[in-house]
Amino acid sequence: MSNATDSLSPTASKRQPFLVGACRESARDERRVALTPASARYLSELGYRCLLEQGAGVAAGFSDAAYREAGVEIVAARAVLLAQVDIIIQVRPPSSDEIAAVPSDKILISFFWPAQNAALLAAANARRITVLAMDMVPRISRAQKMDALSSMANIAGYRAVIEAGNHFGRFFTGQITAAGKVPPAKVLVIGAGVAGLAAIGTAQSLGAIVRAFDVRPEVAEQIESMGAEFLLLDFAEDGSGDGGYAKPASEAFIAKEMALFREQAPEVDIVITTALIPGRPAPLLWPAEMVGLMQAGSVVVDLAAEQGGNCEMTVKDALITTDNGVKVVGYTDFPSRMATQSSLLYATNIRHMLDDLTPQNDGVPLVNMADDVIRSATVCHQGDLTYPPPKLTVPAIAKPAAVTPVDPAVALRTAQAAAKKATTIQSVSLLAAGLMMLLIGSIAPASFMQHLIVFVLACFVGFQVIWKVSHALHTPLMAVTNAISGIIIIGALLQVSSTSWLVTGLAAVAVLIASINIVGGFVVTRRMLAMFQKSEG
Ligand code: NAI
Repeated sequence: MSNATDSLSPTASKRQPFLVGACRESARDERRVALTPASARYLSELGYRCLLEQGAGVAAGFSDAAYREAGVEIVAARAVLLAQVDIIIQVRPPSSDEIAAVPSDKILISFFWPAQNAALLAAANARRITVLAMDMVPRISRAQKMDALSSMANIAGYRAVIEAGNHFGRFFTGQITAAGKVPPAKVLVIGAGVAGLAAIGTAQSLGAIVRAFDVRPEVAEQIESMGAEFLLLDFAEDGSGDGGYAKPASEAFIAKEMALFREQAPEVDIVITTALIPGRPAPLLWPAEMVGLMQAGSVVVDLAAEQGGNCEMTVKDALITTDNGVKVVGYTDFPSRMATQSSLLYATNIRHMLDDLTPQNDGVPLVNMADDVIRSATVCHQGDLTYPPPKLTVPAIAKPAAVTPVDPAVALRTAQAAAKKATTIQSVSLLAAGLMMLLIGSIAPASFMQHLIVFVLACFVGFQVIWKVSHALHTPLMAVTNAISGIIIIGALLQVSSTSWLVTGLAAVAVLIASINIVGGFVVTRRMLAMFQKSEG
C-alpha cells in the first residue's frame, strides 16, 4: 500500500493543458453523459482541454455543435480519444474491454462500485490507472457538491412519483368538481433518505396526502417540515448508522414495522420504497401479502430494485401488474429517464471533483491523498489498491446534542430557584427605580417629571413588546415599528424649526433614525418576500 499523502498525478510531468475526455456510455439504454457544454466551459477555466466522442451527448439533449461552441473537440473514434486523454470521465463503470483500452497511468472518474466490481478494480489497478469512484464520495457537508449518488437519488425520487402518476389512473390532488368529489391520492414513502425526501416533496407538491416512514428518527422533522406525516413506530430502536446511512434493523423492529405497513396497505394508493442499507441487499418491507392488501389500480414503485427490491413482487427493469390489479414498477434507470437533468447535475459533480483535484487552477490534476474526500473516492492509485478507504472522523449529519435525562424533582427545584432569583432582581430594580424617581422629583420641576415618567414607561413598554415577540412575528412587528417611526417623524418635523438649537438637533436626529428604521424595514420586507417568490433563474 502506498503511504503517499500528497502525490502528483502520474501524468503530472506532461505538457499542459491536460486533456479531459468523455465517451458515449456503452451500457444499454444509458442516455446520460459525463460532460455537458456548461461543464466543459468550467473545465476550460480550470485549465483543461475537453474532448468528446462524437454524438456522446445527443441522447441527453446536447448536440455536437453545442459542445463545439463550448470549445470541446469532437473525436469520431473512441480508441483515438482514449489514447489521447489524461482524464477519462464517465457515468457508468467501464467494461473490462474499456479498461483494457485505457493506457496506463491515466485517471478515470466514474461510478465504479468497487465492492461489487473487485475484478474490474484489480484490472484497473494492474494498468496503474488512478480510479476515483463517484459512488465513494463521502456524505459530508464539504463533499455535497460532488455527491453524485445524492444527485441521482434526488432525480430518482422525483421521477418515481412521476412514473407512479403515469400508471395511476387518478389525480394526486383532491378536487370538488360539478361532476363529483375526487379524493386526494394517498402516497406512502418508505425510507426517507435522499430519494425518499425527493419523492415526498414531489408527491406533496402534486397535492397528495403523503405519509412516510424511516428507521432513522432524525428524519421525522424533515418529513414533517415538508408537510408529510411521519408514521410513528412505538419501538425504542434508533436505526441511524454511520455516514448518514441506516444500520440493519433488528428482527423485532422489522416485525413491528411490517405491522404498521399492514395497516397502511389497504388505505394507500401509491407506495414508493427507497429503503437501503449500504452494502447489503435491500430489506424486504413490502411482501406479496402487502401487495395483496392494496386496492386495484394502486401502484408500487420500488427504487431498490437494483439491490433486490423492497417489494417481493418487483421484477427488475420491468413493470408488472399483479392478479389484484396493482402495478409494480421495478425500473433501475430513473436518472437515465431524465437524461438532460441527470447529465447536468452529474457533470457538475464531476466538474467540482476536478476543481478539487486542481488546486492551482492550472489544468494539472493533483491526487491529494491527504484530502478526506479525494482519499475516500480514490479506489486505486499508482498501482496501489486504496479501497476500502479509512473511516472518516467527520460526522455525516450534525446530530442534535445528546440530551441527558433529568430527574423531574431536581428540574423542578432548579426552576423554582431560578424563578425566585428573577423575582428578587426585579423587586430590587423596581425599588431602585422608585427611589431614583423620588430623588429626581424632589429637585426637578413638575412638568419635567411628567415627561420623564411618560418617557420611562414608553421605554419599558416598548422593550417588553419587542423583546417578548417571537422571531416568526418580527415582520408584523416591523409594520408596527414603521408606523411608530412615522409618528416620530411627524413630531420631529413640528419641532425642527424650534429656536433652541438643542431641540432642532434632537428633532433632526429623530428624523434621521426613524427614516433609517422605515427604509430598513422596507428593505428587509422586500428580501423576505423575495424568498417566497419562485425565481426563473
Ligand atoms: P439513502 O441511504 O439516502 O436512503 C435510504 C433510506 O432508507 C435511509 O434513510 C434509511 O434510513 C432508510 N431505511 C433503511 N432501512 C429501512 C427500513 N427497514 N425501513 C424504513 N426505512 C429504512 O439512499 P438513497 O440515496 O435515497 O437511495 C434510495 C434507493 O434508491 C437506493 O436503493 C438506491 O440504490 C436507489 N436508487 C435507485 C435508482 C433507480 O434508478 N432505480 C437511482 C438512484 C437511487
